[in-house]
Amino acid sequence: MAVTIKSEHEIELMREAGRILSIVHDEMAKVIRPGISTMDINRRGEEVINSYGCIPSFLNYRGYPASICISVNDEVVHGIPSKKRILQEGDIVSLDAGVIYKGYHSDAARTHAVGEISEEDQRLIDVTKQSFFEGVKMARAGNHLFDISKTIQDYAEGHGFSVVREMVGHGIGQKLHEEPQVPNYKPIGRGMKLRPGMTLAIEPMINKGAKDIWILDDDWTCVTRDSQNSAHYENTVLITEGEPELLSYNKDLA
Ligand code: MF3
Ligand code: CO
Repeated sequence: MAVTIKSEHEIELMREAGRILSIVHDEMAKVIRPGISTMDINRRGEEVINSYGCIPSFLNYRGYPASICISVNDEVVHGIPSKKRILQEGDIVSLDAGVIYKGYHSDAARTHAVGEISEEDQRLIDVTKQSFFEGVKMARAGNHLFDISKTIQDYAEGHGFSVVREMVGHGIGQKLHEEPQVPNYKPIGRGMKLRPGMTLAIEPMINKGAKDIWILDDDWTCVTRDSQNSAHYENTVLITEGEPELLSYNKDLA
């Protein structure tokens, strides 16, 4: 299926999906503390999603067994919540969530500190988030898709970190994953020209050590090969005639 250009009405629905998702993230951020299980965070996320009459888009997606992907420390993405996985002081935890509002998706991820963390892990979290904000500056009509990719890569690598290759961002709309793929590194070529009405989930996954990853035997959890920590940051973004609009981001919330 080709890239979809959203109508003003569709954009309105995606704005609402994104607005709700920013609240879901803010509410989940509030319960993070040493001693809480990743299942408790999943439950809180689900509760907030349901309270807005939305559907958690990850639940049962290709058999994924939960509503929120919760990835601790060396887990890059797609960690499965568990009541046995208890967060410890000094951990970093990535929360990735998606909601469906009236048939339209939003998708966003945040990485949080659990209590006091090392300066290096804080830098990893900050650089990952900023790599998104650097990349999104290029998300403008007339630019090429890989302008975003290269900007993210240059920022992350310029700070001494590495970019996961196997997993990428994506178009989003009536489906969670639409065309185009949005890599966080620069592949060969320039990528498609961006047009107003395109909606993209831009989601850098940045490793402290080497870029290599593998998937655990649960067939979901993606971890770094060298067991060093990894961070993730994502928003659903609308390409406009001017500045990109961050649908799942509210600067006053988490
Ligand atoms: N945000 C992720 C993505 O964009 C999570 C989806 S994986 C799921 O692909 F299976 F958990 F849904
Ligand atoms: Co995504």
